[in-house]
Amino acid sequence: MLKIAPSILAADFGKMAEEVASLEKCGADIIHCDVMDGVFVPNITFGMPMIKAVRKASGLPLDVHLMIINPEKYIDEFIDAGADCISFHVAATQKTDDILNNIKKRGIKSGIAINPDIPLESVKRYIEKIDMLLIMSVYAGFGGQKFIFESIKKIENAAELKKKYNKNLLIEVDGGINTQNVWDVAAAGADIAVAGSCVFGAADREACIATLKGRQ
Ligand code: DX5
Ligand code: ZN
Repeated sequence: MLKIAPSILAADFGKMAEEVASLEKCGADIIHCDVMDGVFVPNITFGMPMIKAVRKASGLPLDVHLMIINPEKYIDEFIDAGADCISFHVAATQKTDDILNNIKKRGIKSGIAINPDIPLESVKRYIEKIDMLLIMSVYAGFGGQKFIFESIKKIENAAELKKKYNKNLLIEVDGGINTQNVWDVAAAGADIAVAGSCVFGAADREACIATLKGRQ
């Protein structure tokens, strides 16, 4: 069954603890935390202190999506802050293997994220080493963007790679997911759907998450 990971980027930062606590009650499976540095992407969000605060406010697994250059510098600090899974963009580092080894050594899940213009081919060699592949269905940087429909083909191709090389691989899809397109995302082979504005913008978040999960 498709898991739903609301992105706190779309939450009310003034009452983050409440927002995060409510997610568990509303049926969310995972909390997606978007870390942006203003360099790898043209937007700045938050860092480890926010992860620590979210960790305190919820028992759900924390999926930390790093959109920062040289993520190798901060992996340990994000794990210490409470991350259960860390994904980073291969395009942001020369040290992908070192990072994956370090994350593994620390005992949490690792993920590789790819923007819409990064071909699946280019990360094929990491598939056996990672726990999660994060397929961006918008260009990383902002919440509330429109889902890029070509991503569906990429999800299908990733599902093929999963079958061949790593049956336990989790395919996560991130960006522009709503109750209209979630069915296509799930049918293509996604295991986890990130949803920011769809969940936090809904009048009834519980119903929204139920719909996102149910339309598959
Ligand atoms: C984009 C982020 C996404 C985003 C999702 O850079 O990685 O996680 O917050 O938000 P929506 O669901 O609003 O596209
Ligand atoms: Zn994200």
